[in-house]
Amino acid sequence: MRVLIVKDYDEMSKKAADIVAELVKRKPNCVLGLATGSTPEGLYSELVRRHKEEGLDFSKVITFNLDEYYGLPGTHPQSYRYFMNEKLFNGINIRKENTLVPDGKVPIKDIEKFCKEYEEKIKKAGGIDLQVLGIGGDGHIAFNEPGSSLSSRTRLVALNEQTIKDNSRFFSSVDDVPKYALSMGVGTILEAKELLFLANGEKKAEVVAKAIEGPITSSITASALQLHPKVTVILDEGAAKMLSRVSFYKFAAEAEEKIGMKLF
Ligand code: GLP
Repeated sequence: MRVLIVKDYDEMSKKAADIVAELVKRKPNCVLGLATGSTPEGLYSELVRRHKEEGLDFSKVITFNLDEYYGLPGTHPQSYRYFMNEKLFNGINIRKENTLVPDGKVPIKDIEKFCKEYEEKIKKAGGIDLQVLGIGGDGHIAFNEPGSSLSSRTRLVALNEQTIKDNSRFFSSVDDVPKYALSMGVGTILEAKELLFLANGEKKAEVVAKAIEGPITSSITASALQLHPKVTVILDEGAAKMLSRVSFYKFAAEAEEKIGMKLF
């Protein structure tokens, strides 16, 4: 696991954009796995800027989003489809049909089939080359709440109280927050070829330390990232505050610069 600690949110977003842009240039038809939330917003606006000012080309890129609130149509301002259109897709030259987000309005009876097909589409596209991830206050990745199997697949999940409360800041009241979601599983996420995990702010420090340095446990589903061979973690100083191996991470990051090679 590469752990890069940077000064602030801006630097985290730019470093993350460097990794995504490098892939898009090297493999123009790459498959990106995308996340929502306030954490990757800066990454997306930096990608939009690089498209507009530097011509970063997304015309052949395919994207899969991690999750979607169940019950919200893509036209709802709090749906993840809407978020992605607003924050990224409308600002770059990606083909809309190449942007896949789970459909929050799939009828209950078709959910299982829909989830299976979502996974099949990922496979058919050649698998996810790079998956962007944030972390929820309870340690979740995508919407894999504590207790989700570490080999879970795309499915309908119930959201726990803390997540509903955390995400209520985007809704007019906590009662408006959907109680269910469609989410890629931890097992699905671990199949991506490379992971890019981002976190910022002191509020995340404790859960980030548990995820990165604590035991692998379904109680903190982000800890499953320790099982993946190619993870880059980018944290701002706030989110890194409770890590115990900071000097080692800094040493490894300097070593990378010296030898010009990523040390996972
Ligand atoms: C939601 C998403 C997660 C995201 C998390 C953190 O629960 N399903 O993918 O990582 O929010 O959000 P934020 O970045 O706003 O802290």
